[in-house]
Amino acid sequence: MKISSTSAVALCLGFILMSFTGHCYGQLQVGFYREKCLVDVEAIVTQVVAAKFNEDPTIAPALIRMQFHDCFVKGCDASILLDGNNTEKTAPPNLSVRGFEVIDAAKDAVEAVCPGVVSCADIISMATRDVFALINEGCRYDVQTGRRDGSVSLAQNVDLPSPRISVNDSIAAFARKGLSATDMVYLLGGHTVGVAHCSLFQDRLYNFQNTGKPDPTMNPWLASQLRPICPQNSTGSNTVNLDQSSQSSFISKSYYWQILMRNGILQIDQELALDPLTRSTVQGIALFSDFRSKFGQAMVKLGAVEVLTGTQGEIRKSCRAINTN
Ligand code: HEM
Ligand SMILES: *[C@@H]1O[C@H](CO)[C@@H](O)[C@H](O)[C@H]1NC(C)=O
Ligand SMILES: *[C@@H]1O[C@H](CO)[C@@H](O)[C@H](O)[C@H]1NC(C)=O
Ligand SMILES: *[C@@H]1O[C@H](CO)[C@@H](O)[C@H](O)[C@H]1NC(C)=O
Ligand SMILES: *[C@@H]1O[C@H](CO)[C@@H](O)[C@H](O)[C@H]1NC(C)=O
Repeated sequence: MKISSTSAVALCLGFILMSFTGHCYGQLQVGFYREKCLVDVEAIVTQVVAAKFNEDPTIAPALIRMQFHDCFVKGCDASILLDGNNTEKTAPPNLSVRGFEVIDAAKDAVEAVCPGVVSCADIISMATRDVFALINEGCRYDVQTGRRDGSVSLAQNVDLPSPRISVNDSIAAFARKGLSATDMVYLLGGHTVGVAHCSLFQDRLYNFQNTGKPDPTMNPWLASQLRPICPQNSTGSNTVNLDQSSQSSFISKSYYWQILMRNGILQIDQELALDPLTRSTVQGIALFSDFRSKFGQAMVKLGAVEVLTGTQGEIRKSCRAINTN
């Protein structure tokens, strides 16, 4: 479906008005740096991100996923950025978390004009908002800022949900972060962009739960398309689009239609459309919701999980290391 530019503008306007009257979470606020830097640091981040996106559009899904992984482990405190022998980014679910160099470039650009003021955690949130706009017809949500950076990053703290988590357990995991089941269904719509490695869903194609058969919830046609890409005894390093529709590099509700047609790639994606706990929410989004603005609102909520504000934490000089002195 091609959306006319008039209706896209109308959708976008509704969205912007809505976000001005929207909720604030915690002590974060829109425009936190407005009085603190002589230059518009958000615009600087936007420029850096747009330049990187032009070189490699796959940084859009990469940054959206980075925000999820940062916020779900010890809150949105940029702990995922810290280098070291045993930091979060070395834990197995890091597989394919990418985009660290984009955050570094944005941080360098911001430090050059307003040193020691802008947190790395906020740069992740700003950059995520910027890639969102780039794959959402220019519609931007107002990003909240005022986060401070954490100093602890340990691989053993990484307890991200597995792609084989049940809907019930996933709801509980999101609830522990203050996010509702509805928030969770919107946020999993992040899987409308980006890719998954075969190793994370290969079991569904051949020997699902030791039955010797494919996962019966997967559309047999999809399974037949995926098997040549993900051969049974391969290393599983090939990738496929998480959203199998042709619009999969843009934010759209196509993900929800795909999972209703049993074309979910990850087990949790498929279960979302089948489990009575979430099925009606999925149907409601597919049919009625203004998904693209609701997804933005859910990202704002995700960006407020267990944040450090005020005098907590620090403003890192380099996003990859805690300050020394
Ligand atoms: C129960 C919760 C979730 C699970 C189990 C999950 C699992 C996964 C897995 C297994 C992958 C593939 C990674 C790979 O192959 O390297 C993936 C990719 C991705 N996830 Fe999730 N995810 C969840 C929630 C979210 C949320 C809340 C977001 C953001 C709003 C998100 C955004 C993404 C994106 C954008 C990608 C593609 C990354 C890329 O192409 O670089 N996910 N997820
Ligand atoms: C990682 O461990 C090695 C060997 O133990 C050590 O030489 C190195 O300094 C460590 N790196 C960091 C960043 O801590
Ligand atoms: C991600 O985790 C794997 C497995 O633990 C590790 O080998 C790899 O170095 C990690 N990647 C990064 C960027 O730290
Ligand atoms: C659903 O999740 C809750 C909270 O984690 C747990 O107490 C309950 O046993 C789970 N129910 C099932 C059927 O797994
Ligand atoms: C994959 O490996 C299993 C066990 O090692 C073996 O039984 C099976 O025949 C292999 N399948 C293919 C397609 O090579």
